[in-house]
Amino acid sequence: MIKYRLIAFLAVLLQIHCPTLGQPYPNYHADFVGIGEHGGDLKWWQTAAFYQIYPRSFKDSNGDGVGDLNGIAEQLPYLKELGITATWLSPIFTSPMADFGYDIANFTEIAPIFGTMADFEHLMEVAKKLDIKIILDFVPNHSSDECEWFRRSAARDPEFKDFYVWHPGRMENGNRHPPSNWISVFRGSAWQWHEGRQEFYLHQFVKKQPDLNYRNPKVRETMSNVLRFWLRKGVSGFRIDAVPHVFEIAPDNQNQYRDEPRNDWDNDPEDYGYLQHIYTKDQPETIDLVYSWRAVLDAFQREHGGEDRILMAETYSPIDIVMQYYGNATAEGAQLPFNFLLISELSNSSNAHAYEGTVLKWLQHMPKGRTANWVLGNHDQPRVGSRLGRDRVDMLNMLTATLPGASVTYQGEELGMTNVWISWKDTVDPSACNTNPSIYEQYSRDPERTPFQWTDAQDAGFSNASRTWLPIAVDYKEVNVELERQKPLSHLNVFKQLWQLRKQSQTLQRGETEVKALSDAVLAVKRYLERDSTYLTLLNIYDGIETINLLQSFPDLPPQLKVVVVTERSQVKVGDLVNSTSLQLQPKDSLVLQTTSSYYSYATNGEARFLPVLGVYLWLAQVGLYLSNR
Ligand code: GLC
Repeated sequence: MIKYRLIAFLAVLLQIHCPTLGQPYPNYHADFVGIGEHGGDLKWWQTAAFYQIYPRSFKDSNGDGVGDLNGIAEQLPYLKELGITATWLSPIFTSPMADFGYDIANFTEIAPIFGTMADFEHLMEVAKKLDIKIILDFVPNHSSDECEWFRRSAARDPEFKDFYVWHPGRMENGNRHPPSNWISVFRGSAWQWHEGRQEFYLHQFVKKQPDLNYRNPKVRETMSNVLRFWLRKGVSGFRIDAVPHVFEIAPDNQNQYRDEPRNDWDNDPEDYGYLQHIYTKDQPETIDLVYSWRAVLDAFQREHGGEDRILMAETYSPIDIVMQYYGNATAEGAQLPFNFLLISELSNSSNAHAYEGTVLKWLQHMPKGRTANWVLGNHDQPRVGSRLGRDRVDMLNMLTATLPGASVTYQGEELGMTNVWISWKDTVDPSACNTNPSIYEQYSRDPERTPFQWTDAQDAGFSNASRTWLPIAVDYKEVNVELERQKPLSHLNVFKQLWQLRKQSQTLQRGETEVKALSDAVLAVKRYLERDSTYLTLLNIYDGIETINLLQSFPDLPPQLKVVVVTERSQVKVGDLVNSTSLQLQPKDSLVLQTTSSYYSYATNGEARFLPVLGVYLWLAQVGLYLSNR
């Protein structure tokens, strides 16, 4: 008897202390090892739900038709209700608003249209109470031409003379021309003649956004001080704007800038796509600059303690370059270089293989030990519903909430807000205004920036102004927070359920990931973690009914799975059990399924589990023996 007890006891000990002993070889189904799966602490940002607020359009508290800081503070509980961890705010700083705040005149002052510094401090207090972190937009590439630094630079004030990129231009046949053929992202030459200084200055965006000169150490120090200023105000980090543009090539030894080569596919000489931006984008120095900003954050943290402050980098660049922003063997970079692949690689006609390829592209390129992130939308991109299909909003929210790492939602995507058509007359985005009435729609970002839809009242509950800065969407009576709160399977409620689940589930937070297209129509994401439930997210991207046998692709799944999240397209309900061998998905349906018992999934998750399973049986035998001996 004692002998048996001893064996059982040893088996239990083995199981508790050496769980991996049961896995003589790594689980070859595991494409991607989860974060902290061995029980290490996760940092707050590693599994966070980020939410982007576009302050002009979130909530107007003073009736001027433009959103403001008090509006955000008032509605912050809504973010809590959604399950949001942190919100990043598009710029709130003093600005003439030539690019709606991305043209900053004073980097450490609040724009009066958004409120005062006291309002900002109040917002920080509310956020702290609700435990929602605030991330600010850091716009390093340029300032406004109304910034004091630019004025002084134009006047050749010695302290600021080289703060911007100035050049006398090229003289040809006695005529002065811009220094190079470079084109602005918002059309036309990137060089603007300045009468006062009698030189051209560079502006990669509109001419009211002169580029700062990062080859000047004083500029670098000044901008690091901007970071320190807001860190002292208690922010949890920064989204860094337009990162790939920050450096351009240095002039050659004749002090000349080289022309960029042409792109054959674009015949419009004013259009940004006309040139290949080999001298104005993705210059190698940019990576180190981001590392230096990270060092500023880390130094602040060492000095002041507290939770991680983070950088999220806006990097529309080739994937190999984006990955370098994470850091390297010796330096840390942005914790989250934005993953825009769901925006840039998918369209309305993408099939499940394209979805699989897009998700895997990020995971396969990501350096070991880094955290993934999934950006579905932002204020520069058509809305998810307009880009990938109104009827795919839930499935995309489901995908990003159940993939590993952080997700980034743009305000209104949780409601299924879609692009709003804006007439040429009402168009205000400089990217569109710099074009003409026949092509402006291709360039305008106004359609995704319209006011947030809170209720079915006047101005969709966003404001009580007679006119809002952009028109309100026509669908606001059907698509708004108030109404969607009441419908159990509204986009809003599906979103909430997803993030509740994500918060409760260790598997979703730190488990391993397998991504597979089961057919052209169906994408599956499996998340699993030892000794915990396995989850399966299924998206039917197409319009047909799909019947699938999950065991063909995931042989270690149990015969039945429990439904944990559904959409209004689903025929099954939360709590239903479905058969793994014949599961039906409705058109554009998506589901999250869970193994019914964590023990079951653990015990049957492949032959490698043999020893721990044996341990459990021996332990049960021991309990049986003990009871029979009493
Ligand atoms: C970024 C911003 C965009 C802005 C541009 C210039 O891409 O997201 O809105 O116009 O930078 O600052």
